[in-house]
Amino acid sequence: MEKTKIGVLVSGGGTNLQALIDFEKDGGLKSGKLSLVISDNPKAYALERAEKAGIKTAVICKMDFESRADFENAVINELEENGIELIILAGFMTILSANFTSRYPERIINVHPSLIPSFCGKGFYGLKVHEAALGYGVKVTGATVHFVNEIPDGGRIILQKVVEIEEGDTPEILQKRVMEQAEWKILPEAAEIVSECIMHNK
Ligand code: GAR
Repeated sequence: MEKTKIGVLVSGGGTNLQALIDFEKDGGLKSGKLSLVISDNPKAYALERAEKAGIKTAVICKMDFESRADFENAVINELEENGIELIILAGFMTILSANFTSRYPERIINVHPSLIPSFCGKGFYGLKVHEAALGYGVKVTGATVHFVNEIPDGGRIILQKVVEIEEGDTPEILQKRVMEQAEWKILPEAAEIVSECIMHNK
């Protein structure tokens, strides 16, 4: 059976992309193949990670388009030209419109650095999520991998993992712990679960 072709959308450092690359290299991604990385930021370090791993890359910047629809259409064209069957948002900082998400029902997954439904939705991304968790005073946080639909961070949950808050945590320290203990584990696992499902339904 042919493996599920995966496209990863990134904007920044790409440590979650790296976790996927390492998982594939170690043989964990049995049902999927990392086939394309698209960045909306030409300076994203994630692009270097992809190139080093021999994965095809594309840069598509919002600034270069007159509308969000034109930007999204360019992303869709790139995905289709490469036969992408599963889209992974790995630190992708653009919220996709309903026009985009409705094309790929249960074919887009996202990693979010909190236990959804806490500290999620519009405005909660990157360090802001950890600032909010520490500000609220929660004792545990974590990460969630979920399907992407028209509601920001609102799609069906695939995996979650809890991470303890520790005394002296800053948003930066907590972000690092959530990545190491949760995101880099559950994102590759979820990628395999969904890839397997798509592969068997072809
Ligand atoms: C990760 O913590 C990811 O969960 C978060 O941005 C970081 C990207 O890091 N994503 C969001 O906040 C999405 N709402 P990375 O580029 O090193 O993977």
